[in-house]
Amino acid sequence: MDIHSKKKLSNGVEIPVTGLGVYLSPAGEVTADSVRWAVEAGYRHIDAAAVYGNEESVGEGIRTCGVPREQLFITSKLWNDDMRKGRQREAFQETLKKLGTDYLDLYLIHWPVENHAESWHVLEDLYRSGLVRAIGVSNYHRQHLDELAAEAEIVPMVNQFECHPYLSQEPLMELCRERGMVCEAYSPLGGQNGPVLSDPGILKLAQDHGRTAAQIVLRWHLQKGRVVLPKSNHRERICSNLEIFDFELSAAEMETMDHLNQDLRTGGNPDCFDF
Ligand code: A2P
Repeated sequence: MDIHSKKKLSNGVEIPVTGLGVYLSPAGEVTADSVRWAVEAGYRHIDAAAVYGNEESVGEGIRTCGVPREQLFITSKLWNDDMRKGRQREAFQETLKKLGTDYLDLYLIHWPVENHAESWHVLEDLYRSGLVRAIGVSNYHRQHLDELAAEAEIVPMVNQFECHPYLSQEPLMELCRERGMVCEAYSPLGGQNGPVLSDPGILKLAQDHGRTAAQIVLRWHLQKGRVVLPKSNHRERICSNLEIFDFELSAAEMETMDHLNQDLRTGGNPDCFDF
């Protein structure tokens, strides 16, 4: 693996294994800068969403980063209220406009709202018409995947969910593997002000390897076979979060990391969210 490593989705499209997350990245220059810093460091994958409220800033970053659009992998997500209001297509067009692009590499249903299976047909149409290169879901548990499977003609290529050492999601990972979906970890570092990066076990591994805690955590994700989407608005962190391809965690160290799981969620629970 190196910074250009990719995973093949079920339809053959390749997704870079590391992407910049932009949840809680404030609209404005700081987000545009973060995208430019990321691309300069070697990222080619940005994970956006309509509800983050910063698609225009991400778009500015994409337009001004100096790397042609077709070399970038851009994801966005269809927001819950747009599905509830039946304005899936309008929301998709708004996303394209704000991001300043005429296609997406990956479009996801953000949460399994009541009419998510109906919305999936819209994503299938967008995929068939070539406006998106791949489609998938986010925050889906087994029952949501089953509800979708009962209606879907195309199996989601990706499931993106909260995942970090305190929420290791092994059963969900296994399920996605069985169904041929690539897993993407959001909040891979445990989210904003989360406890993961100060875990004593992780700090010990960081010390042993001469690495940061974030690098240890991100390397653990990669060795688990996940795509990681760390967010930062700091140039130094954006760069160092990509320096995870020149060391390896041993089997015993991976096991130590695996034992940190506490099923601790920092974001919404797909089984009982109310937004
Ligand atoms: P910041 O944007 O101020 O750098 P996650 O990706 O799990 O959601 O976690 C992101 C959080 O961790 C953000 O609050 C981000 O803050 C912080 N962060 C990102 N990279 C690092 C790093 N290398 N070291 C410490 N904190 C980091």
